[in-house]
Formats: sequence, structure tokens, C-alpha cells
Amino acid sequence: MSKNKIQIFDTTLRDGEQVPGCKLNTEQKVIIAKQLDKLGVDVIEAGFPVSSPGDFKSVEAISKIVKNATVCGLTRSVENDIKVAGEALKHAVKPRIHTGIGTSDSHINHKFKSNKEDIIQRAFAAVKYAKSFVEDVEFYAEDAGRTDNEYLARVCEAAIKAGATVLNIPDTTGYCLPSEYGAKIKYLKENVKGIEKAILSCHCHNDLGLATANSIEGVINGARQIECTINGIGERAGNTALEEVVMVLKQHPYLNLDTNINTQMLYGLSQLVSDSMGIYTQPNKAIVGANAFAHSSGIHQDGVIKNRATYEIIDPKDVGVTESAIVLTARSGRAALAYRAKNVGYELTKLQLDDVYANFLSFADRKKEVNDNDIHQIIETSNVYQ
Ligand code: KIV
Ligand code: ZN
Repeated sequence: MSKNKIQIFDTTLRDGEQVPGCKLNTEQKVIIAKQLDKLGVDVIEAGFPVSSPGDFKSVEAISKIVKNATVCGLTRSVENDIKVAGEALKHAVKPRIHTGIGTSDSHINHKFKSNKEDIIQRAFAAVKYAKSFVEDVEFYAEDAGRTDNEYLARVCEAAIKAGATVLNIPDTTGYCLPSEYGAKIKYLKENVKGIEKAILSCHCHNDLGLATANSIEGVINGARQIECTINGIGERAGNTALEEVVMVLKQHPYLNLDTNINTQMLYGLSQLVSDSMGIYTQPNKAIVGANAFAHSSGIHQDGVIKNRATYEIIDPKDVGVTESAIVLTARSGRAALAYRAKNVGYELTKLQLDDVYANFLSFADRKKEVNDNDIHQIIETSNVYQ
């Protein structure tokens, strides 16, 4: 059976860049955009053009250099935002305007001090106006996660009538449970009139650590685009991590959902984004963290040395990591020590290993992690290796 294609919409340079303390200049953004294009993302959200002259310049520069992906600019449902985005995107081979408005009670009553009918009209007008600049218009219903489904369906219908090609259903506050978010997508798929003219998109935030799970539930229930960022960076607890959703779909082929991503570039992209933004990636971060393929306890090390798959569900090479790391600590066993010793040139007999291991343990108790230089020292000062 042929697989359903899931479009990857990367928003590292827009939602990701909203991380406090992080600012990228145009040159850095262009470098990242080129790599995202090579990675195989379907859409690059390059910025929010009306927000500043710098962001306008970046969206314009990215529009000029991206060869394959659609280049997208964010707007509010405000005519001037849309006009400026149209201008910034005019050189893009495949331009997209991403416009929208808040649809939850809290947005309607407090942010807009408006009412439900007025919001529907504004949504319609924004999409219609954006269509006068580009063919491809994505509509977002901000805070859709906390918007009542019946009303959300009416907003989506208006956006489709105005010509939206993609309907973004953001869980802006990262509130939904995976079952709720999946049910929301299913409801829209089954109840929005004209839904066959547009695709549904998942845009999940990570406030409860559920962004990846919610996005996956979204595509299982019929969404065909995931909005995400490299390393999951973004407002507050961040956005859905690109590397996570891509690898979930790859490692679960029976879901019949596929992306165009060249996964071997994931680790390199993660490093590039983290270095350019000055945002450190936590060591235990799934897929790209420093410890994602590192084994330090004796039982695990023994298993991995005998067969990598015992404790690894992903071949590290598939995500651009050269090899699994066997980290030597006081929790390591003889198998790990023999393995690392062999890598630096020592074939130890069983007797030699027993002797060296005793030295190793007292050394490792003093020093947290034992490196290759330490291994030379431990072995050369052991009794039986003379
Ligand atoms: O989280 C959100 O709702 C957004 C929209 C502006 C798309 O980022
Ligand atoms: Zn967002």
C-alpha cells in the first residue's frame, strides 16, 4: 500500500525564533533555510514580515534562495500585514501567506473584545485578501486547542470558502491531551463542509510535554501537515520537535505515513540551529541530544556491544550520528572496558582484564567519566600488563 505523505512545515525561523534571548541575523537565517531546503522540508516559515524591517529582509532573502520548499510568511488578519507579506514573498518560487485569528472564547472576548460572527467575517476577509497576492494561503485558528469544535468547524468553512489551501489547527497553549487533539482533527475532517479542498495541519506547543504525541495523533486522524521546529525550540516550552515526529513516523512504518526528510541530516541541523541561536540542547533530548545514543550502565553496555538493537531503536547513522557511545563510568562492566580498551589498541586477556578492571573502578570512582587518555594510564599502570 502506498504511504500517505505528511508535509513537514518548518517554523524554526518564525515560531522557533520567538525564544527569549534568541535573535538570528539575515545571514544566519539564510544559512539555516538552505540547509532546511536540503533536508527536504516541504514548507519553510521564514518569518513575520510586518513585525520588523529585519524580519522583512530575512523573508525576502530566503524567498530568493530557496529552490524546492514553499516559503511562507506569517500575518495577522490585518490588511497591512498581508500586503507586506505579499511583498516580502514576491521572489519565492512557491510563496505561501499564513494568516489567521484567535478563535477561542478567551481570544474573542479578551484579546479582540469582539464576538464569534465578527471573527468569522475577519477570517474570511483575511484569506480572501491574501489570495489576491498568492494562490497558496494557509489559515490558522489561534488557540484552536481550546476552541469549541462546532464553532471551529464554522471558522474553517469560512476560510475554505475564501480559498484557504491549508487549515492550521494550533494547540497554541499546549493544553490538549493526544486523544482530545486527535478527536478534534477527526471532527473537523468529518464535519467541515468543503474540507476536501484543503489539508489540515497540526501546530502543537509543548507546555505539557505533549507536542510530539499530539502531532502524531493529529496525522493518525487525518491531518496531512505537521508544523515543527528543529530541536523543538519555540515560545515557552517550545514547539513540536521536527526530528521527533519525523523519526516516529519512520520507525513506525505500519502507520503508512511518510515524510520527504533526509534523516541523516538531522543531527547536523540540530547542531547548526543550536550554535547559531546560542541555545543549548539538553543532553537527554530525544534523537539529537548528546546522550541519545550513549550507554553508560554495565548491563546496557554489555547488551549494545553484543547487539546494538538490544537498547537502541534507531541506528544512530540514520540521524547523522557516527556511532553509539559507550561511556565509561563506575557503573560500567568488564565488557565495556574491554571494548573501549580494544578501540585504543589493547587486546586484554581475561586475566589482564580482571586486573585492569579493579584499577579502572577505583579510578572511575574518583573521576566521573573515563576517557581514552585515562584508559592508557589505567592499563599501563596495572600489574599484569607489563
Ligand atoms: O501557536 C500558534 O497559534 C501560532 C500561530 C500564530 C500559527 O504560532
Ligand atoms: Zn505557535
